[in-house]
Amino acid sequence: MKRLFLFFILLLLCPWMLRAQGDSLIRIGTPRTDLILRLSPEGKLCQAYLGPRLANEADLKQLPAGKEVYYAYGSKDYFEPAVRVTHADGHPGMQLDYVSHEVRPQSDPNVTLTVVTLRDKVYPVEVKLFYETFARENVLKMWTEISHREKKPIVLHEGASALLHLSSRAYYLSAFTGQWGGEAMMNEQKLLPGKKVLDTRLGARAAMYCSPLFMLGVGAPASENTGEVLLGTLNWTGNFRFLFEMDSRHDLRLIAGINPYASEYHLPSGEVFRTPEFVCTMSDRGTGQASRDLHDWARNYQLKDGHGDRLTLLNNWESTGFDFNADTLKTYIRKSADLGVDMFLLDDGWFANKYPRKNDKQGLGDWEPTHAKLPHGVQELVAEAGRAGVKFGIWIEPEMVSMRSELYEKHPDWVIRFPDREPYFYRNQLVLDLCNPAVQDYVFGVVDRLLSENPSLAYFKWDCNSPITNPMSPYLKDKQSHLYIDYVRGLYNVLERIKQKYPDVPMMLCSGGGGRCDYGALQYFTEFWASDNTGPVERIFIQWGFSQFFPAKSVGAHVTSWGKQSLKFRTDVAMTGKLGFDIDVNKLTDAEIAFCRQAVGNFKRLAPVTLEGDLYRLVSPYEGQHAALMYVDKAVDKAVLFTYDLYPRRGAEWIFPVRLAGLDPAKMYRVEEINLEPGVDVVAWKENGGVFSGDYLMKVGLNVLTERCENSRVIEITAQ
Ligand code: GLA
Repeated sequence: MKRLFLFFILLLLCPWMLRAQGDSLIRIGTPRTDLILRLSPEGKLCQAYLGPRLANEADLKQLPAGKEVYYAYGSKDYFEPAVRVTHADGHPGMQLDYVSHEVRPQSDPNVTLTVVTLRDKVYPVEVKLFYETFARENVLKMWTEISHREKKPIVLHEGASALLHLSSRAYYLSAFTGQWGGEAMMNEQKLLPGKKVLDTRLGARAAMYCSPLFMLGVGAPASENTGEVLLGTLNWTGNFRFLFEMDSRHDLRLIAGINPYASEYHLPSGEVFRTPEFVCTMSDRGTGQASRDLHDWARNYQLKDGHGDRLTLLNNWESTGFDFNADTLKTYIRKSADLGVDMFLLDDGWFANKYPRKNDKQGLGDWEPTHAKLPHGVQELVAEAGRAGVKFGIWIEPEMVSMRSELYEKHPDWVIRFPDREPYFYRNQLVLDLCNPAVQDYVFGVVDRLLSENPSLAYFKWDCNSPITNPMSPYLKDKQSHLYIDYVRGLYNVLERIKQKYPDVPMMLCSGGGGRCDYGALQYFTEFWASDNTGPVERIFIQWGFSQFFPAKSVGAHVTSWGKQSLKFRTDVAMTGKLGFDIDVNKLTDAEIAFCRQAVGNFKRLAPVTLEGDLYRLVSPYEGQHAALMYVDKAVDKAVLFTYDLYPRRGAEWIFPVRLAGLDPAKMYRVEEINLEPGVDVVAWKENGGVFSGDYLMKVGLNVLTERCENSRVIEITAQ
């Protein structure tokens, strides 16, 4: 009783204390962006401003009152709330008042964490808002913690990671939508009064149709080098929702978080519900700057082994499919060495005995090598790789199960499905119930066993080909609405255990191509597979889309036999991401092997530029005729320019000099075409070998484009 009394006294005092300190404003931001919160006379915390940093401290007090930072259902508000609960006694409403805020010291001076506490006046429900800023990278990360002290569980219907308010004349939203083979297609639309939602309900392989990414042009359509733009993403490998609600006065409310669809959460007293992090950056110099900031942030703080090397590789999926044996693979291993790549990656089809994995209809779940194909197991292949001087990596899809598998026969209760209906399938498989700790142990065990049996196994490609189908968890019993959330939490438990025990093993995130592409997963993965579509022209678009958010070193890009374009064109496209090959090496001529080997050498030599440097997108493929992009190293001494002539129309008006970017105007640079195929006719380029000032290159540009369809160039640019 005494504690309750104190609680209420504190509650009444806190808003007053904030004002008494002359501190009714909370300034959260970076040297380039301001998010200003302000306490209203009624004790509500409101967002007074979000935008480019305000130059004069004195101006802050002139800011309008703003709107509540985290509207609860039941407050005086007529739009979508950030949080909605039903209290233990059935009461549906909540009103959140400001209680306190603190700036928590961090060991890294670049990072500031501000924590704001809000509380309901009547019920003991508390919401903490976390704002973490990364000063150098101009990135803001937001999440919330929701908890309560009611006698029984409350139902959390929705609890956003963040709510932001924007006020401008117009907004232009770019989504990254697609499907298998056509991921991250960028499409922009002007927002109109009403709601626009980007979301997914697929559970696993969550981003198959819509990636958890958006760009919002504020005031004008987002453009590469000018204008205000907000880039946002959610660190969550499951159902997400970005909701944009514009009122008739053109004020915009942006709510980001877990998709509340079919996901009411029963939250026991004392348990903290932590939402995933919403990550955003705001640029007033277009999307190019925003992407570079996100890339830096990812390498510095989020991506697994963000500054580490990446392994170039040869994969066998595209050329062998399921049809291989130990001898086939040994040839591939030796050819990996000929290509000069670091590793051979064995794909699907190596496992299961009762129901051998000879096609995609069976075997998932039984992770022992198929005796008939690999009589001496994986060990023999790892040893062969050792002899050839390359590393060995392996494909797994440990979250999934085939009905024709020993795992399914032994543990039908480990599988997400309705007990009373015929299951429906995606790629003939079902999803394991990762809500169940026993299943988590099993999935961890797949990796753990492979690594204990083969300690020099160097890499995993972790696939996830099915969304959650037949959505019912045998483990969750009467808490089925926890499925989509607990699945992802279960997945993270497993990935965290792997990271703890094997911190240095690189892993590729794959999901039937790019069906998972989020920074939540990427804290456990060194890269993700952008798409099974490796046709180089489509790939230019797919990689262009992902480049808005992800640095090159995190985007897996392989040279394959998709498309009829030259080997050079395919290689020049793959070299703008993390280079690999997935090609029938037995069909390559000696000259082609020599070309690939040279390209791998160039890629490795230039890795400090492409993988660690700054990306400048110069000519968008969406313009239709050409594409061009370049990377510049942090010292601005070295750059690499990639240009692609897609389907240029005839006539000089379609050819223009490509102006470079990001160089030092005062430095002199030598430009030189590399990655040439010996003996192959190329369009002559007169400027090759010339020395130009950075100023010239950025104002006049290089005449590198051609009228030839599907032609490409790689230009190395070196300060003299
Ligand atoms: C998915 C992946 C492919 C390949 C196959 C194997 O589709 O995206 O790269 O690994 O699975 O079945």
